Amino acid sequence: MRWRLLASRVIAIDGPAGSGKTSTAKAVAAELELAHLDSGALYRAVTLVMLDAELRLDERRIVEAANSHGVGLRDVHGSFHPFVDGFDVSKVVRSQDVTAQVSQVAALPTVRDWVNGVLRQLVADHPAGAVADGRDVGTVIFPDAILKVFLTASLEERALRRAKQEGRVDIDGDGVARLSRAIQERDTADASRAVAPLVAAPDALHIDTTQLAFGEQVAAVVDKAKPLLGIA
Ligand code: CDP
Repeated sequence: MRWRLLASRVIAIDGPAGSGKTSTAKAVAAELELAHLDSGALYRAVTLVMLDAELRLDERRIVEAANSHGVGLRDVHGSFHPFVDGFDVSKVVRSQDVTAQVSQVAALPTVRDWVNGVLRQLVADHPAGAVADGRDVGTVIFPDAILKVFLTASLEERALRRAKQEGRVDIDGDGVARLSRAIQERDTADASRAVAPLVAAPDALHIDTTQLAFGEQVAAVVDKAKPLLGIA
């Protein structure tokens, strides 16, 4: 299969919510001059369309709507953003409504097949290579990825990072506890679903980022990737 060959230029970064996959993948891609593909953003854009059209969890209609509303990832000045109906939906896909529903949508096999097809096509269109992040990039979407990374961090650290990312600077202890519960619920849903559950590939490089500075986790992936990509 063609995408199997192309996957030799893919770096897969998987892990639970808030482990730093997307920011790490973006920085690694910039340093190695590869495309960055955020598979979670695609699931979120599909969820947005499902919510807008009030489709509930009807997987056939959700995929039809994803096609008819042109859901996809588009290159915006060198970085891929989620699009719906020609609009950049990067911000709105991070809303609490979408976050609360996305794991249910991502559990639908027809939706997963559709997302996987979109990502494989994007990689086919970018033969220079890509860093893709998500939950099943190294296990299902690109099992032949040249490098697979599984990022983790403690639940508390992930909740604190998410609060910071969302600009919730005044969040108190209760707020962090609520965020931790929401993250844990999503992790449990993602790890226990029947299709493509969140799990590390057997050959993945595990990096616990709890105690690492952002630059250190990026460097750990870049250093491992360079010789595999033939970069000095
Ligand atoms: O950024 P965060 O870690 O909160 O999540 P995300 O990467 O935006 O992914 C949102 C949701 O999409 C996840 O909780 C999963 O339910 C789903 N997802 C998935 O099932 N498989 C992927 N490859 C990527 C995301």
